[in-house]
Amino acid sequence: MSAAAASGRPALAVASECAPLVKTGGLADVVGALPAALATQGWALRTLLPGYPAVMAAARRARQVAGFDDLLGTPARVLACSHAGLELLVLDAPALFDRPGGPYLGPDGRDWPDNDRRFAALCLAAAQLADQGIGAWRPQVLHLHDWQAGLTPAYLRARGSTLPCLMSIHNIAFHGLTPATRLAALALPPEGFTIDGFEFYGHVSALKAGLTGAQAIATVSPGYARELLTPAFGMGLEGVLQARAPDLHGILNGIDTNLWNPATDAAITPYTSPAGKAANRARLVDDFGLVPGDGPLAVVVSRLSAQKGLDLLLDALPGYLARGGRLALLGSGERALENAWLAAGAASPGQLGVRIGYDQALSHRMYAGADAVLVPSRFEPCGLTQLYALRYGALPVVARTGGLADTVIHANEAALAAGVATGIVHDAESIPALAQALGQLCQLWQDRRVFRQMQRNAMKHPVGWQASAPRYAALYAALSDNNKADTP
Ligand code: ADP
Ligand code: GLC
Repeated sequence: MSAAAASGRPALAVASECAPLVKTGGLADVVGALPAALATQGWALRTLLPGYPAVMAAARRARQVAGFDDLLGTPARVLACSHAGLELLVLDAPALFDRPGGPYLGPDGRDWPDNDRRFAALCLAAAQLADQGIGAWRPQVLHLHDWQAGLTPAYLRARGSTLPCLMSIHNIAFHGLTPATRLAALALPPEGFTIDGFEFYGHVSALKAGLTGAQAIATVSPGYARELLTPAFGMGLEGVLQARAPDLHGILNGIDTNLWNPATDAAITPYTSPAGKAANRARLVDDFGLVPGDGPLAVVVSRLSAQKGLDLLLDALPGYLARGGRLALLGSGERALENAWLAAGAASPGQLGVRIGYDQALSHRMYAGADAVLVPSRFEPCGLTQLYALRYGALPVVARTGGLADTVIHANEAALAAGVATGIVHDAESIPALAQALGQLCQLWQDRRVFRQMQRNAMKHPVGWQASAPRYAALYAALSDNNKADTP
């Protein structure tokens, strides 16, 4: 273990993805960044991950720290290793995790049919590891991320453990539902299958298990914490969350400001001021085969799913392109959206460049070259792309929802007069509002002095973990201290 990790109070994070090893979205970035952020606050996190092929490759020199003859029907072991500054515990269960494809989907793009068992096994292993410890190591708190880690409190309580859990909601759209007939196969305590436990309309909900079983709940922005209490955003769990409102904490995500640093980023021509973006902008125009226009160059880097509102953007785009605006989009996801964007790109060559795929290096070049980053989400628990945009001096144009509204200062008259605006915020789920926001972007672009000032504001805006790491640390400490006070 590294010196920093060894010296702090021990905690265990449980997650299904973690950058840089396995990532489908912002969850991985946050799980990967929290250990370093919390090390500065006196907490030493170890992170338990499934042994997917990419994780096992990093664990080649790992040592075994626990073994299971029968973990939900399969032998398994836990390996410990350090990787990229992270202290990892890897659940090596080849029957569950040694497969091609992504963490949740097979190569055919469908959910693995045994996802309930795969992530129940992760939770069961977490509960056993935390309860028994590894040598002298015993976590004081468990930090559980999204539904894949949600069953952990149920398994802990079944063992009689009072270890405190913090359940983090990164996206409430995913509940981890499975039929009630699976209770026995997942070794879940039948007495937990109630409306106050993990029963959800006749199914087992792994997320609800976490929400009802954890001592505290966190989500990734104050705005989303408020929204989650409403039927429009709570996705059927708003009642559960209302009942736990005093224990629900909205803590804004940060980004890893070393990994995302325009002054040192190896993927780009480094810069420290908006003027320094020019070489990156020229390269981006080239990369996407765009013809230079007299409007701004905007980018989108996103999963293509209904959440992200990119179908709305397709409808709002013609006016923007007509004003000389340019757009480069990098994304992958739902087939219908991929096709719609490819068709739009083919219809506006030179003005709209579309790349379907997942490309980390290209995403860095896009933030570096862009004048603006568009995030028109229908809902957005936090959103990281607008934070990368701020850091790289590209103005975020975002929907007024969740963490987007919490992180961007809209260019209204007051903010412009005070010299503090960092972007444009528009009504969510409205094509006219989005079109108007793009119009404002073009208008601001015409006054290069104001635009540059906003870019400078953006680059100065704090987007790291300075404010949020102490809040997590305080929460961990309160949970752990309460537990000690309660334990006879
Ligand atoms: P979400 O987790 O809902 O997808 P976030 O904004 O929190 O949204 O995080 C998205 C992360 O995934 C960011 O790091 C973003 O740069 C990255 N990303 C999304 N799509 C792509 C892509 N096609 N290629 C490279 N990176 C991507
Ligand atoms: C989820 C959310 C996103 C958030 C990320 C990290 O994927 O969709 O808004 O930034 O988790 O917390």
